[in-house]
Amino acid sequence: MKTITLHNKTFEVSISENEISDIINSMANQINNLSTEKPLFIAVLNGSFLFAADIMRKITIPDCEISFIKLASYSGTESTGEVNKLIGINEDIKGRNVIVLEDIIDTGITLEKIIDLLQKEDVNSIKTATLLFKPDAYKKNIDIDFIGKSIPNDFVVGYGLDYDEIGRNLPHIYKLKK
Ligand code: IMP
Ligand code: MG
Repeated sequence: MKTITLHNKTFEVSISENEISDIINSMANQINNLSTEKPLFIAVLNGSFLFAADIMRKITIPDCEISFIKLASYSGTESTGEVNKLIGINEDIKGRNVIVLEDIIDTGITLEKIIDLLQKEDVNSIKTATLLFKPDAYKKNIDIDFIGKSIPNDFVVGYGLDYDEIGRNLPHIYKLKK
């Protein structure tokens, strides 16, 4: 089994490039079959950049659009603690049918924050598509509409996912070798 080293940790291939491609084709088919009216795909950076690029090429809904966001968390100056803000939404998304594109959903904390913030923008509907899902780590009740693959609670890297910012360029998804 081919292994790689990132920051002195060893990783082995977990989901090959070919398998990723099959997963994405199947997710795209499911989304296409919904025929959502004028969907606005919103990809969550940085991790979902490759997933978003690959799935969009398989989306055949003619009037679809795509935009990119980042979740910025910072400590407020008051005693309110952590404040979250979506950065990157420049257009008015009120009334839109949003499909969130995520690389991985782990505890679901990030997804919950994103959905809260999108709801404040008065969108019409929100669906979520994630390439990877860790059911054993998930702590929220939000339904995830499209799951590429459910994986065990292992740390994974590659295909957009990073280990301390490196490894995003790898074409396969690797897991930490035990
Ligand atoms: P959550 O808020 O716990 O669901 O985690 C979401 C974010 O944590 C993802 O968007 C990733 O950036 C990161 N993350 C969670 N699990 C992994 C992993 O196995 N590898 C790399 N990043 C991960
Ligand atoms: Mg992410």
